Amino acid sequence: MAPHDLSSFDLSDKPFINLGLDGIVAFSTKKSFIDGQKGELIYAGYNIDTLAEYATFEEVCFLLWNDRLPTQHELDELNNALLAERTLPQAVVSFIQTCDKDAEPMGVLRSAVSMLSEHDGHDIADTQAATISMTAKMPAMIAAFDRVRRGLEIVSPLSSGSTAENFLYMLNGEAPGAAAIKTMDLCLILHAEHGMNASTFVARSIASTMSDIYSAVTGAIGSLKGPLHGGANTAVMNMLLEMQAKGDDLDPVEEVKGKLARKEKIMGFGHRVYKTLDPRAVHLQKMSKQLSEETGHMKLYEWSVAMLETMKSEKNIDANVDFFSATVYYSIGIQPDLYTCIFAMSRVSGWTAHFMEQSDNNRLIRPRAMYIADKNLDWTPIEQR
Ligand code: SDX
Repeated sequence: MAPHDLSSFDLSDKPFINLGLDGIVAFSTKKSFIDGQKGELIYAGYNIDTLAEYATFEEVCFLLWNDRLPTQHELDELNNALLAERTLPQAVVSFIQTCDKDAEPMGVLRSAVSMLSEHDGHDIADTQAATISMTAKMPAMIAAFDRVRRGLEIVSPLSSGSTAENFLYMLNGEAPGAAAIKTMDLCLILHAEHGMNASTFVARSIASTMSDIYSAVTGAIGSLKGPLHGGANTAVMNMLLEMQAKGDDLDPVEEVKGKLARKEKIMGFGHRVYKTLDPRAVHLQKMSKQLSEETGHMKLYEWSVAMLETMKSEKNIDANVDFFSATVYYSIGIQPDLYTCIFAMSRVSGWTAHFMEQSDNNRLIRPRAMYIADKNLDWTPIEQR
């Protein structure tokens, strides 16, 4: 379907029509601040660079849910609560085992989270319990589906360890190395929260009707799944693998120019808010370079840098969080169609934080739309149509 042509409409009396709500400030929030010109990202007071250096994903979860960092006791309590909630209900396991092996992992995750609300053993209105449960269980759901579709036994979670460690252990069936755990933990920190992105907007919209938090996270997963949003990281990897299949002597610069000439959107580039390099991409590029060197994927990294430079010089467009996360995950052996699920198992912390913030200061979210079709037409009987 072509986008609506509004050129014939007088918008002068509608100064607030911004397609895609571009630039519209619809909420106040304490969860994050983004300076798109400077390329700055702050989670509840702390710069992403500070959190990347010092925090763990679980500390970031606590920060987003409570607007302050935890004490050691509070962090220990949170880690224990996550460990206690990591095992999946049998109904969810059975669902995952019946999924088609070729099913989209984000679709399986969306359905499994939705099912969880009826099998979680908590009052559906207990937002805190549901938040811990979904944050703990989404990694297990993702790992379980990947194991089942590969014909492997589902691996139970460890009785200790972080979200990152448990995810890699449940996915691969073996204890992950310290470097892989650190890489995954940093990726979870970098993807946790990002203001009023499309999926968080969905979560807040569902919160504003006073629906439940499982519904909000289910809707948010559906939004994140799209290639213009979280689905871009999988699309980036698929693009790089298609390029690799054409042979090592491929020219990435010509590849980019050709896509631009065909008016194709290049996944992993551009952003509604950032008009400079996404600060998260800075960390992910460093990780991608180091991991690509260690795992023999330098060609993919070199092509990525060439694409980065070409997009900047040709269109003044920078990479976003999804561009280098692709080669980071690829280098630690994760299947490309799981990348957006990893985004989701991190962003559930931000979605739930925004759900709670909306609930604490709620007003039904209900914007307007400009009607552009006919009015009061005469009825035409069906035999005359
Ligand atoms: C995420 O909102 C968030 O914070 C999201 C996120 C988060 O943490 O939650 O940061 C995560 O979703 C990152 C974005 C992942 N998506 C992609 O990588 C998909 C590719 N990117 C584009 O589709 C696009 O950049 C968007 C959707 C991300 C933003 O698009 P906008 O703000 O609607 O801008 P636009 O599409 O109107 O583009 C403006 C111009 C256009 O050129 P002209 O038609 O004016 O000549 O820039 C061009 C676009 O064609 N452009 C691109 C491009 N992105 C923008 N051209 C080629 N490739 C691209 N990727």
